[in-house]
Formats: sequence, C-alpha cells, structure tokens
Amino acid sequence: MALFLMASAIAFPGASVAIAINLLFAGLLTILLPAINTSLKTPGTLGFFSGLNVVAFTLIYFLVEETKQLTLEELDLVYDNPKSMFAGYQLKYNMLYYLKSQLGGEIFYHEADVDGISLRVSARVSGGPGAVAGFFTYNNDTQESDVEILTRDGNTRLHFSNQPTADARDYQIPGATFNESLPYKPTHDWTVYRLDWLPHDNTNVWYADGKVLSSTQVSVPSVLSTVFINMWGNGDPWSGHMAVDDKARLDIQWIEMALTLR
Ligand SMILES: *[C@@H]1O[C@H](CO)[C@@H](O)[C@H](O)[C@H]1NC(C)=O
Ligand SMILES: *[C@@H]1O[C@H](CO)[C@@H](O)[C@H](O)[C@H]1NC(C)=O
Repeated sequence: MALFLMASAIAFPGASVAIAINLLFAGLLTILLPAINTSLKTPGTLGFFSGLNVVAFTLIYFLVEETKQLTLEELDLVYDNPKSMFAGYQLKYNMLYYLKSQLGGEIFYHEADVDGISLRVSARVSGGPGAVAGFFTYNNDTQESDVEILTRDGNTRLHFSNQPTADARDYQIPGATFNESLPYKPTHDWTVYRLDWLPHDNTNVWYADGKVLSSTQVSVPSVLSTVFINMWGNGDPWSGHMAVDDKARLDIQWIEMALTLR
C-alpha cells in the first residue's frame, strides 16, 4: 500500500488530494448508508450505487489514460497531452473502433499456406505522417517478412524487416532490418515494391523498381504464411502519430505473386 501511494504520488502530484477525497467519501458513505437504505429500500440502494458505477465508468473511459507497463518517463509523455485531446481521441477513435469503424485497410491472400513468394506490388504512398503501408508475409510475430513505407519518412525511405528486429534487451538484430533510401519520391509516381521470401534458400531479397536494395539470411521466416497488403498506424513512436483529421493513402496499381503453396 505504501509503495502504491508513493508511486502514485510520484506519477501524479495530486494523488494526496485524490486519496483524501476518496477517504472522505468512504467515510460519508459509512455514515449515510443506513439512511439511504431506509428511504430507498434495498433495490433502490443497489440501483443508486450501480448508477454511480455507470457514471464512474463513463468518466474513467473519457478522462483516465491507460498507464499499464509504462515507465515514469513514458507517463510524462502520456500526461503531456491535454485531457481534451485524450477525451476526443477516446470518442473519435476508441468508441468508433468498437462500433467497427476502420482505422486501416487490409487485403490478404486467404490461405495461410504460402511456402515462399515473390510479391510485386506497383503502388504509391502519400499523405500525413502516422501511416505505414505494408507488404508482408506473416505467420506469427517471429515469422514475418516485411516491406514498409512510412509516411513520416516523407516517403523517400523503405523499411525491410524480418521479425523480430530487436532482441529481448531491445537491441537491434544486425541484418534483420534495413532502412533504405529511394533516390526519388514515390508519392506521385508508381514504384514496384518487391519482396522475395525464399525459405528453402533461407534468403530474403528486397527490390524497388527492379533494383536489389537489401538481402539477408537473418531471421528468414521458415513456416507457412499468409500474404498481406495493408495500410496501418497505431500512434506509437515507430509508425508515428497521425493528427486528428489528417489522412494518408496507399494506391495500388497492380499486384503480382509468384508463390509456392503447400
Ligand atoms: C512462431 O512460430 C514458430 C514456428 O512454428 C515457433 O517456433 C515460434 O515459437 C512462434 N512464435 C510465437 C511468438 O508464437
Ligand atoms: C530511417 O533513416 C532515416 C535517415 O537516417 C531517419 O530519418 C528515419 O527516422 C529512419 N526511420 C526509421 C523508422 O528508423
């Protein structure tokens, strides 16, 4: 308990006030409950307190940020955002998300039985920072081969990765991820992005417009996978944070796949 109080006092200097108010109302509750129960009877009392829970749920949903597993430094970043921005975000994105509004788009090759592929996509990516266009194979988080274009890079860079790109201590694994530059901006012009995942040769080769940009034999996925093309963003430091009402787009001219199935 003492540790909890200390931690909350560090993270949130108003914690002592919050705890005092909490205890004050706990005291009031003890004093007032018999009177409430007499006038509202048991169902009324229970209904009254469940109503208060609904009010508390709504307030917490819109006003209390998620802090699970964040460091104290990350908490500062969380609390640097004004409450109004957080409440707006909850309303606009989280609630709409549960009502099935889309945050990104995705197409994928239905069967998860691809055993090697040359995936070529003629595409262009444009728009505000915070979106990631991805062409990739996926089985699980350690069996994944990616081409990614980040709008926050000004669309002049290409990211190629075999997941995981970092080890347990969060150090980058050499040869698992590449951040290559393009000599031109593919915002207006079509670029042919190509991922060759060759599990039987334990090799990945990545191309842009027919030119080899990277290749590796590190962390090459070895199990049957699904093929995805998507545009996503989750607001984290890597994908970048898309401002409310900003937008980005991924246009696809054509897709070619030469693949081995099993
Ligand atoms: C992913 O799949 C591989 C091969 O089946 C397995 O060895 C590995 O443990 C899986 N990793 C995760 C994170 O599930
Ligand atoms: C890729 O490299 C460029 C230039 O060094 C850098 O500005 C950019 O932040 C890098 N992107 C990522 C996702 O690491």
